[in-house]
Amino acid sequence: MNSGKEAILVTGACGQLGTELVGELRKIYGEGQVLATDMKPSENQVFDSGPFQTLNVLDKKGLQEIVERFRPTQIYHLAAILSAAAERNPTLAWDVNIAGFMNVLDVAKSAPSKVYKVYAPSSIAVFGPHTPRRDTPQHTITDPTTVYGITKLVGERLSDYYFAQYQLDVRSIRYPGLISYKTPPGGGTTDYAVEIFHKVLTDRKYVSFLGPDTPLPMMYMPDALRGTLELMEAPAEKLTIRSSYNMAAMCFTPHELAEEIKRQFGEFEMGYSPDFRQHIADSWPASLDDTQARLDWGWLPRFGLKEMVADMLKNIRLPARV
Ligand SMILES: NC(=O)c1ccc[n+]([C@@H]2O[C@H](COP(=O)([O-])OP(=O)(O)OC[C@H]3O[C@@H](n4cnc5c(N)ncnc54)[C@H](O)[C@@H]3O)[C@@H](O)[C@H]2O)c1
Repeated sequence: MNSGKEAILVTGACGQLGTELVGELRKIYGEGQVLATDMKPSENQVFDSGPFQTLNVLDKKGLQEIVERFRPTQIYHLAAILSAAAERNPTLAWDVNIAGFMNVLDVAKSAPSKVYKVYAPSSIAVFGPHTPRRDTPQHTITDPTTVYGITKLVGERLSDYYFAQYQLDVRSIRYPGLISYKTPPGGGTTDYAVEIFHKVLTDRKYVSFLGPDTPLPMMYMPDALRGTLELMEAPAEKLTIRSSYNMAAMCFTPHELAEEIKRQFGEFEMGYSPDFRQHIADSWPASLDDTQARLDWGWLPRFGLKEMVADMLKNIRLPARV
C-alpha cells in the first residue's frame, strides 16, 4: 500500500477526535494514504472518502497484519476509554489504554517497514489534587485520582521510554476538554461543554453535570487539529518533551459558558446537578502553562470562549435570536 509516500494508520478513528483528524490527514496526504480503523464499524460518511478497516487494538496479531500490509510511516493512536467511561469500567480502561498502547508501540518499533512517527494523545487527567491548579506547569506533581488519569500517566512514561530506549519518534499532547459539533464526545468529564449547545437548541434548557463554578481548560476542535498536525510536522530535534506537551487555549466554568451562550443566542434555562464527574473535575487543573509547546513548535491558539461559542452556534445552526 505504501508506495514511497507517507501512509497513515489511525486507530480509534470513529471517535470525537478521529472523525475530524482523518478528514484533515486525507486532505494533506491523499485519501488512499490514510487507513482509518476502529473496533466498531464506521457509520460516519467521512470514512467513505478512503479506506476503513475494523481493528481492536487489543488484537496485536491483527494490528501486526495491518501494519505489514499497509506499511504505515505514521500511526495516530486514538483508541482509548475516556474518563467517565473509564470510571465505569476500570479493567477495560486499563486494557485498552495501556495494553492497547503497548501493542501499538511494540508493533511500531519492530515493523519491517519503518514507522517514523507515532502520535498518542495524553490528557489533563494526568494531574491530580496536589498539582498546582492555576497555570499548571509542564513538569509538576502528577497524582491522578481517576483510572483514566493513571492510564494516561503510564502512557506518557511509556512514550518517553520508547523514545529513549528504541528511538521511536513518539509525540503527544495533553489535550484539555475538546469541544466540537461533528461527532459526539465519547464519555469524558468535559462533555457538558458540547452537550449544552445541542440541548439549548432542542429544549432551550440544560442541566450541567458539573457545578457552576468549576473552571477547566478547554480547546475548540479546529485548534486541536491544527496543533496536533503542527506538532507532528515539527522537526524532531526541536522537541524537548517526549512524554506529552501541555497545550492550552481557553479556560471557563459552566456558568461562564452559559452566560456567553446567552449573550450570543438569547435566554435559556440553565440548571446544575453535579454527579460523580464533579469529583473528577475538581482534581484537574483550571488552566495550563503551555510555554514549552509555544517555544518548541510554535503553538498558538486561535479560538477563545467568545470565538468558540460563535462558531459552535453557527455550525449547529441555531436560529439567531440577537
Ligand atoms: N475528547 C477529549 O476531550 C479528549 C481530551 C483529552 C484527551 N483525549 C484523548 O484523545 C484521544 C481520542 O479521544 P476521543 O475524544 O476521540 O475519544 P472517543 O471516545 O470519542 O473515541 C475513541 C475511539 O476509540 C475506539 N476504541 C475504544 N476501544 C477500542 C479498542 N479496543 N480498539 C480500537 N478502537 C477502540 C472507540 O470505538 C472510539 O471510536 C484519546 O486518547 C483520548 O484519551 C481526548
